[in-house]
Amino acid sequence: MISKRLVDAINDQIKAEFESASLYLSMAIWSARNSFFGAENFFIKQAEEEKEHAMKFVKYLLEVDAQPIMPELSKPDSDFSSLQDVFKRGLEHEKLVTSRINDLVKLSDEDEDYATNDFLQWYVTEQVEEEKSFRDIVRRLEIVKESAAGILRIDDNLAQR
Ligand code: FEO
Repeated sequence: MISKRLVDAINDQIKAEFESASLYLSMAIWSARNSFFGAENFFIKQAEEEKEHAMKFVKYLLEVDAQPIMPELSKPDSDFSSLQDVFKRGLEHEKLVTSRINDLVKLSDEDEDYATNDFLQWYVTEQVEEEKSFRDIVRRLEIVKESAAGILRIDDNLAQR
């Protein structure tokens, strides 16, 4: 049976995943308002993925006969200074999520909860992809620096996601 502390920690993560969706929607709005329509598309899709991450946790708790809790969300950041700033903060956010997932894995190890540990491995793999996706864009933006043509080309590519 899943422990209470693990259920509580997963409920905290459900909140964190919905807050990720909310942060990325805020980034999509900033991008749209600043005419970075590729980034707008990227962040709308990212926000949808985060909701899926949250829902996977909700469904898991139901599967193991535990209580998911609908979270109260805090207000996301919306004061971004540039496209570079948006993606850097996205990368930092993903690193934070990775450390949260690792903490959950550690808890499941301590509890010898093999089912939850197995379930969490999907998130471990996903976080490698999430960090890479943001890191690649941050690096490309660092290459073009202030070049408007370079930034717009990267933005156009983000429309393909
Ligand atoms: Fe749900 Fe982007 O991690």
